[in-house]
Amino acid sequence: MSIHRITVVGAGYVGLTTGACLASFGHRVVCADVDAGKIARLRAGKVDILEAGLPELVAAGLAAGTLAFEVGAAAAVQDAEAVFLCVPTPMAADGTADLSAVASVAAELGALLPAGCVVVNKSTVPVGTAEWVRRLLGRDDVAVVSNPEFLREGSAVHDFLHPDRIVVGSADEPAARRIAELYSPLRAPVVCTNAASAELIKYAANCFLAVKLSYVNAVAELCETFGAEIDAVTAGMGHDPRIGQAFLRPGPGWGGPCLPKDASALLRLAEGRGVRFDLLQAAVDDNARQSRRVVRRLADELGKPLDGARIGLLGLAFKPGTNDLRGSPALQVAELLADAGAEVVAHDPAVHRELPRITVVGDAYLAVKEVDAVLLVTEWPQFRELDWPAVADLMDGGLVFDARNHLDPAVLERSGLRWRGIGRQAAA
Ligand code: UGA
Repeated sequence: MSIHRITVVGAGYVGLTTGACLASFGHRVVCADVDAGKIARLRAGKVDILEAGLPELVAAGLAAGTLAFEVGAAAAVQDAEAVFLCVPTPMAADGTADLSAVASVAAELGALLPAGCVVVNKSTVPVGTAEWVRRLLGRDDVAVVSNPEFLREGSAVHDFLHPDRIVVGSADEPAARRIAELYSPLRAPVVCTNAASAELIKYAANCFLAVKLSYVNAVAELCETFGAEIDAVTAGMGHDPRIGQAFLRPGPGWGGPCLPKDASALLRLAEGRGVRFDLLQAAVDDNARQSRRVVRRLADELGKPLDGARIGLLGLAFKPGTNDLRGSPALQVAELLADAGAEVVAHDPAVHRELPRITVVGDAYLAVKEVDAVLLVTEWPQFRELDWPAVADLMDGGLVFDARNHLDPAVLERSGLRWRGIGRQAAA
């Protein structure tokens, strides 16, 4: 029996993307959130998060009557055939995943769900959570399926509509297959397994990416030491399909709302069962060192103390295409600069709010005015398009430290600037 009536609990970037995309397949979707203001704005077609294509999908769903919004989960589940839990699972103080939002929704919905309904865990949750939710619901006639998502912020709609794979896991295999069928228009390979495997797949995948990035950042440091070029090295590595070209760009460290939290949670999960995962711990430790290394290299290249220096920071978001500052390596670097006594003036095309210890300005040219050095930490395309000779005129010093290897060194050198990158030699 196919599912057509869906409720999504939590209208963040995962929930809203899931809801709007499933509605675009013709299903009837109700998205619920506790934030009444957010629901009122969504009913008016206003999307708060920066996510390409999402406002258009929400508008189309509203116009077609396939997408609706409700305040609170209870009002949204009366006739649901599937209820997707897309609530936040942030990092708790002890490094584990905080499941209080999942727990309160499960407790609230237990008595309200229609018989035969399937509850779907889409939030990233520790191994064992599907079983735990099933107990919290206290219902024999409701199945729980783990269906982790692999969306990247900033390209969530694209990723939802072009998945590499669909993962579903449950003790109730027919329920898992019914959820997989929802994605059949996408023609992606389906991995149907038990709940623990599905839950572990999500952590294992994100942590693998984190390890890959720490590895490439270490290789970049070796490149600096040996006179090698990281772009050539990663290209040479990545042609091997067992390695692949993706996720090999060095930077100021990996961050965002997912990778650091998931690495920490998997470490705590492993520790809790007495399993050593030294490799992942080393990746986390190396990542903390990476932002310090960027700041140290900037200081070395500057040739004078950071104390009292004025640094223009290009970028604040954890990656381009989003205004999300959670776990942003850019903020980490800014903090270290401020700790060292530098004055930090920052610009990010998508971040306009005030931040402690940083002067945020609305224009890249204001951020570089009278600075001793520019430090690029988020690879927004617009930074490549800056008028670099004008930047050179505005700056006091001539150093541009490109912690994402994003700029064209030749353009900068022609503008009279001294370009330095990660894992790269200075331009000839
Ligand atoms: C990540 C995963 O990529 C998604 O598959 C997953 O669904 C998502 O977490 C999640 O768990 O919800 P996201 O947090 O949006 O997605 O960010 P990524 O695009 O993966 O970037 C993570 C960090 O790695 C960023 O700081 C980025 O700048 C850095 N990065 C990425 C590099 O430094 N180099 C690269 O080559 C790629």
